[in-house]
Order: sequence, then C-alpha cells, then structure tokens
Amino acid sequence: MPTSLVTGANRGIGLALCHELLERGHHVIAACRASSPKLDKLAGPTLRIEAGVDVSAPATLTALAKRLSGTSIDWLICNAGVLVADSFDTLNIETVREQLEINSVGTLFTVQSISKNLVSGSKIALITSRMGSIGDNSSGGYYGYRMSKAALNAAGVSLAHDLRPRGIAVAILHPGFVQTDMTAGHGQVTAAASARLLIERITELSLGTSGTFWHASGEQLPW
Ligand SMILES: NC(=O)c1ccc[n+]([C@@H]2O[C@H](COP(=O)([O-])OP(=O)(O)OC[C@H]3O[C@@H](n4cnc5c(N)ncnc54)[C@H](OP(=O)(O)O)[C@@H]3O)[C@@H](O)[C@H]2O)c1
Repeated sequence: MPTSLVTGANRGIGLALCHELLERGHHVIAACRASSPKLDKLAGPTLRIEAGVDVSAPATLTALAKRLSGTSIDWLICNAGVLVADSFDTLNIETVREQLEINSVGTLFTVQSISKNLVSGSKIALITSRMGSIGDNSSGGYYGYRMSKAALNAAGVSLAHDLRPRGIAVAILHPGFVQTDMTAGHGQVTAAASARLLIERITELSLGTSGTFWHASGEQLPW
C-alpha cells in the first residue's frame, strides 16, 4: 500500500487529494497548519493527520521530518499555497514576500525536509499554477503569485535533475481553475475532479517526464 504525504491537507484541493488517495488505498499523511472538521471526518486506520506544519516555518518542517523518521513516502504532494491578488498599483511588499515564502521557498524546504523519506521510485508533485508560466502570461498583474509560482517551477526543474540519480521523479502540475476558497468558489472544476486528474498525472509521471510542466487535464504548459 503506497504512502502519500499531502501539504495544505485541511481544505480545498489538498483535502480532495487526501479523500481520493484514501479511496485508492493509499496510506495518507495529511500535513496542515491546523486540521478541519472535513479532514477529521476522513479519519480511519490509513489516515494520519500531522497538524502544526507551516511550510514557511522551517522548524515545523524539521519537527515533521523527525516524527516521520523511518517512514518511506511514495508520493510527496506539495500543495500548500496562497494567492493574494495584486496589481501594479496595489503592490504590497509584505504580501509579495509572503507568497514567495510559502509558495516557492516553503515548498522547496518541504521537499528538502522530507527527502530522507523518499526512496527510489518515489514521486514528488509540486502544485504550481499556470499563472507562474511566463509564456502564458497574457494579462499581467498578480505579481506576487506569478513570481512565486515561476520560482517554484524553476525549483521543480532543479529538483528533477538533482533527484534523478536517486530514482525520484518530479511533476510540476497546474490543477486547473478549481472551486476552492482561493477562488472564492469560482472555477471550472470541483476540487474532487481536479484531485482525480492530478492523481492521473502523478500516476503517469516517470523519470522520462520528470521536470516537465503539465495542466491536470494532460496538456503540457509553456514555461
Ligand atoms: N484553486 C485554483 O483554481 C488553483 C489554481 C492554480 C493553482 N492552485 C494551487 O493549488 C494549491 C491549493 O490551492 P486551493 O485552491 O486548494 O486553495 P485553498 O482552498 O485556499 O487552500 C490552500 C491550502 O494551503 C494551505 N496553506 C496556506 N499557507 C500555508 C502554510 N504557510 N503552511 C501550510 N499550509 C498552508 C491552507 O491551509 P490553512 O487552512 O492553514 O490556511 C490550505 O490548506 C495552491 O498551491 C494553489 O496555489 C489553485
């Protein structure tokens, strides 16, 4: 039975991923800052909730890694993220920094902290956004979010190179425009539908496709 660790597991796409992975027979480690009634409801012998995990607070990642010492992780899904809408006229240095700290730096350090738990054949999925695509940016704005996801994409390619000798593949995945708190419930797909597509993409991921950037629908995206 594979073991998957999901960050940002208490709501939105992370919660839906936990639900779908449990349905598929995975052991799930649900990492979150704080659990939620919906996550608690998934409780069962194959769900382990790890609360107190803030991806922008390295000490909480180190503590998680210590608690998981000796546990092999087959799929590490780095999903935690924030979006603060901004425009050129409303730029705020604190929110730009916050998004970089959580979405890019925090995600990179999540992977580094958990890397001892990854084995040959393990897979890492970085939940990025097509808003981090420079080639796909046709409308501007969203400086902090776009920059943070572009930086995450860059980290994903380096991780793919650096972890290849260990037999670990990395997927850089856009989940679609998904109905969650982040989009105030707007979007083209439900979190459950997005989670199912993301799982298809992670299942397909191999060392041959490691380090490439995909829409959950299966379309390859430009950098
Ligand atoms: N929804 C979309 O259309 C869409 C599109 C493209 C990409 N994405 C990406 O998909 C991922 C999930 O987004 P979502 O739509 O599910 O958003 P969401 O409903 O707002 O959920 C965000 C999740 O990230 C967690 N999180 C935020 N900051 C964190 C931190 N510092 N440490 C740990 N966890 C943290 C939140 O936990 P708390 O409850 O503790 O805040 C929550 O579990 C994000 O990376 C997002 O950028 C979403």
